[in-house]
Amino acid sequence: MTRLKLGVLISGRGSNLRALIESCNTSGYPAEIVLVLANRPDAAGLGFAAEVGIATQVIDHTEYAERAAFDAALDRALRAAGVELVCLAGFMRLLTAGFVASWRDALVNIHPSLLPSFRGLNTHRKTLAAGVRITGCTVHYLRPETDTGPILVQAAVPVLAEDDEASLAARVLAAEHRCYPLAVRLIAEGRVRVENERAIIDGAPAGDLTLINPLPTPSGSS
Ligand code: GAR
Repeated sequence: MTRLKLGVLISGRGSNLRALIESCNTSGYPAEIVLVLANRPDAAGLGFAAEVGIATQVIDHTEYAERAAFDAALDRALRAAGVELVCLAGFMRLLTAGFVASWRDALVNIHPSLLPSFRGLNTHRKTLAAGVRITGCTVHYLRPETDTGPILVQAAVPVLAEDDEASLAARVLAAEHRCYPLAVRLIAEGRVRVENERAIIDGAPAGDLTLINPLPTPSGSS
């Protein structure tokens, strides 16, 4: 089986990277990670990628005066490693339109909200401030505007009354760890095509569960 070659870009903790590594180590998973790139030398994810024998590289953004030069360095490293799909996994740098265009439909991102709601930074703070009762995560092909592009996979989780940013982030993160490997698998299996800026997925049934928050109770149900 030929496996889709992934390049994973991280800036920090790397728990989504870890979820991808675990999936790639599962028999029959149709992708492999050929390079982990970080823009910060202290990104924790670099350590455990190296421990399991994955090539890692740091391209420190502080050493580049221009965004375009930094992105060109990323591009060179990814192409040299033979990367076929770039996965942003907590990569907290904005990418230039040129970089995004040159990896069109070969560049995916994960974001901890149900896009198009709450794009950008401080996602969970914005989610809590808006008072929504359901949030989630999104894996999508990236377009030049931050956190936009055809949506591949989403998961929904409830927002609880007692949530703070940390508890909500943890609940969403558990969903992220399921969604990212799923999205990569669908792409690697050749089951995704983009039509009119919507991702069409062959043979992936949607569940029919309705997530209601709060749950209807006998006295409160209509
Ligand atoms: C994840 O929650 C990811 O969705 C988010 O950063 C976190 C990285 O965690 N990304 C963004 O907000 C991008 N807009 P990780 O390093 O443990 O994977």
